[in-house]
Amino acid sequence: MPIERTFVMAKPDAVQRGLVGEIVSRFERKGLKIIAAKFIKIQRDTAEEMYAEHKAKPFFEGHINFILSGPVLAVVLEGESAISLARAIIGKTNPLEAQAGTIRGDFCQITRKNLVHGSDGPENAKREVSIFFKPEDILEYKRNDESCFKE
Ligand code: TYD
Ligand code: MG
Repeated sequence: MPIERTFVMAKPDAVQRGLVGEIVSRFERKGLKIIAAKFIKIQRDTAEEMYAEHKAKPFFEGHINFILSGPVLAVVLEGESAISLARAIIGKTNPLEAQAGTIRGDFCQITRKNLVHGSDGPENAKREVSIFFKPEDILEYKRNDESCFKE
């Protein structure tokens, strides 16, 4: 399995509801390593760049306004198959379809306010990490439990 990096973000609803710690903790406990993090208020052009693939969709404007509505925690995670592992922990986009045990399945009700973003593939992961972090923001280190996640 490849070592991957992925971009996840606790959205403004997670901050307002006091769920940032719960969300980060789910990734941490799965064994995904935090290698960069930043608590920020996103600028409109950055949000539009991040979600560029959705520009023509009817929910775009409302979604961007929501992302700009308050601070977010932007995080880079690293681990084996980190991209799909993080997506599995997050759950399906629509909370009505997200399974119990996933972040979206456990804590939210509507798609716009679905608490957390996770990159959907290697290209977007690379692109999204570079929107929010410079190479020097990313810290390389070993976690003591890394052998527990290898054969
Ligand atoms: P998308 O990339 O389809 O979902 P995911 O976050 O699971 O990768 O959509 C990006 C975000 O846009 C989604 O998390 C919430 C918002 N959105 C809406 O507000 N309404 C919608 O109908 C969809 C599909 C997404
Ligand atoms: Mg997406």
